[in-house]
Amino acid sequence: MTAPTTSFAVPEYVKNQGLIDWVSEMTALTKPDFVHWCDGSQEEYDQLCDVLVANGTFKRLNPEKRPNSFLAWSDPSDVARVEDRTYICSINRDDAGPTNNWVNPKEMKATLAKLFDGSMRGRTMYVIPFSMGPLGSSISYIGVEITDSAYVAVNMRLMTRMGKAVIDALGESDNWVPCAHTVGAPLEPGQEDVSWPCNPSVKYIVHFPEERSIWSYGSGYGGNALLGKKCLALRIASVLGRDEGWMAEHMLILGVEDPTGRKTYVAAAFPSACGKTNFAMLIPPEEMGDWKVTTIGDDIAWIKPGEGGRMYAINPEAGYFGVAPGTSYKSNPNAMRCVESDTIFTNVALTDDGDVWWEGMDGAPPAHAIDWQGNDWTPDSGRKAAHPNARFTVHASRNPVIDPAWEDPAGVPISAMIFGGRRSTVVPLVYQPLSWAFGVYAGATMGSEMTAAAFGKIGEVRRDPMAMLPFIGYHMASYFNHWLSMGRRVSQPPRIFNVNWFRKDSDGNFLWPGFGQNMRVLKWIVERANGQARAIESPIGYMPTYDDLDWKGLDFSREQFHALMDVERSDWEREILSHEELFVRLYDRLPKEFMAIRELLLSNFWRSPDHWELPDYAQNQ
Ligand code: OXD
Ligand code: MN
Repeated sequence: MTAPTTSFAVPEYVKNQGLIDWVSEMTALTKPDFVHWCDGSQEEYDQLCDVLVANGTFKRLNPEKRPNSFLAWSDPSDVARVEDRTYICSINRDDAGPTNNWVNPKEMKATLAKLFDGSMRGRTMYVIPFSMGPLGSSISYIGVEITDSAYVAVNMRLMTRMGKAVIDALGESDNWVPCAHTVGAPLEPGQEDVSWPCNPSVKYIVHFPEERSIWSYGSGYGGNALLGKKCLALRIASVLGRDEGWMAEHMLILGVEDPTGRKTYVAAAFPSACGKTNFAMLIPPEEMGDWKVTTIGDDIAWIKPGEGGRMYAINPEAGYFGVAPGTSYKSNPNAMRCVESDTIFTNVALTDDGDVWWEGMDGAPPAHAIDWQGNDWTPDSGRKAAHPNARFTVHASRNPVIDPAWEDPAGVPISAMIFGGRRSTVVPLVYQPLSWAFGVYAGATMGSEMTAAAFGKIGEVRRDPMAMLPFIGYHMASYFNHWLSMGRRVSQPPRIFNVNWFRKDSDGNFLWPGFGQNMRVLKWIVERANGQARAIESPIGYMPTYDDLDWKGLDFSREQFHALMDVERSDWEREILSHEELFVRLYDRLPKEFMAIRELLLSNFWRSPDHWELPDYAQNQ
């Protein structure tokens, strides 16, 4: 690497005057002691990790157990994205829409200018050029993040293409997104630093969609601080997609290879904490024969119309920032293999032999560990050892089932899109809405039951359209219109499906085993998208009967399946009426198609019996 820049000098390979001017403006505003331009080399990564170890942010894990891996513990006030502190500051309030926080951009800029003034005193400013999407591809976007967190710099190297190569690809272009980040904890001369600097009381995550810029203050954690991910690749990119005719979606992308070797690509949207990484790395049950699942991405898809009237998707990220608790060799063996080395762990527990542990890992819990807050922990201590939002950061190239096309700048053709929420009742295991528009309606009205009290009562349904509620950069109903128009723009739109892995019986037990067994549903979806699988028409869309799914190797009865697929008229009438609550909020821009679809769904129920029973084929023929 070039020697750490211990002055404000700009490396000679940086020629982009707009970028040089912006960095110099931000230096004048934030007043760091040093400026370091990241070149993205391994050497630089290793050096920054050493700095993080020296200042106490990182603990180096036992190299025999977890080579080249580190553990960080955050401040207890800084453990997750802060949705109530996240703003879309469009010029016009109506353009942000009712689901986003909004402040007049002039007013917000004045607030930020005050907060950023001197915010990096006593610290180093890192300049991080990064590309969302393969380097040099016409569908990638370049951002430059300035940050006073070395933790952010090393995470960005795993999560994006980062460094000098990005500067080279950018050339003289002014087409890049400035991303300003500070932990908001300046150091007075002589003041001792803490291991996780942040501002415990003031946090702002701000987007200016018209000028395409991002400002983040006060937090060093995840999506608040790694600005390429949720801020650029979803909130800003959703606006770019609206304006340029493509889609930025909170979707994983996976490939399904059938026993004949045919590959079908599928994108799927689930709200946060519904197992997206597990689904993206699924291992099919052996008894199903030679089916394979490969990963393109686990969180974000950029989808564009392309050849043959189809939609093509790329994963703009280069790594995974996955939730650790619950990840095990049982639930997600591939993720466990990813994190066997070269991984940054945040807010998991440290074992006595210098390894990591979290709730839900395989085997018995350790007899003793240090929890994520640095306290002694034993299994009977009555506390969690890892924070529920503890994470691993790892480069995608460590994924044993990475798809060979994961970096193809042309993207992969998407044949099916899946929406899924966490619903213990009402919503069946799988159905296929009747058309693109019905599918968009299903995605727009998808909901998830709260598992933590952060956003409402536990168990209450939070509507999370397309899993984009926290990530849409403009008016949610304009976004629905954009979806409808994208379907009209291509002759072969993906088939849309809805799934629910989380249905429970009246005793609260899950009705579906989930994880690898989800392959049975995925197989039907893929075959259906390829025009091969049978289905019957229910009031909400097409459904497989028991005989249409592959049950080899799973003891799952017809009765169990029918309980999972049950469509109860009174439940669905209530469900459809409750969509009104979302529609009223979005009234001024709601697509007119939605009212028609709602009426059609209601009318389907009107003609169906109280309790719609999935027939068996034998009876249906
Ligand atoms: C994530 C999220 O971190 O959706 O991916 O919250
Ligand atoms: Mn996500």
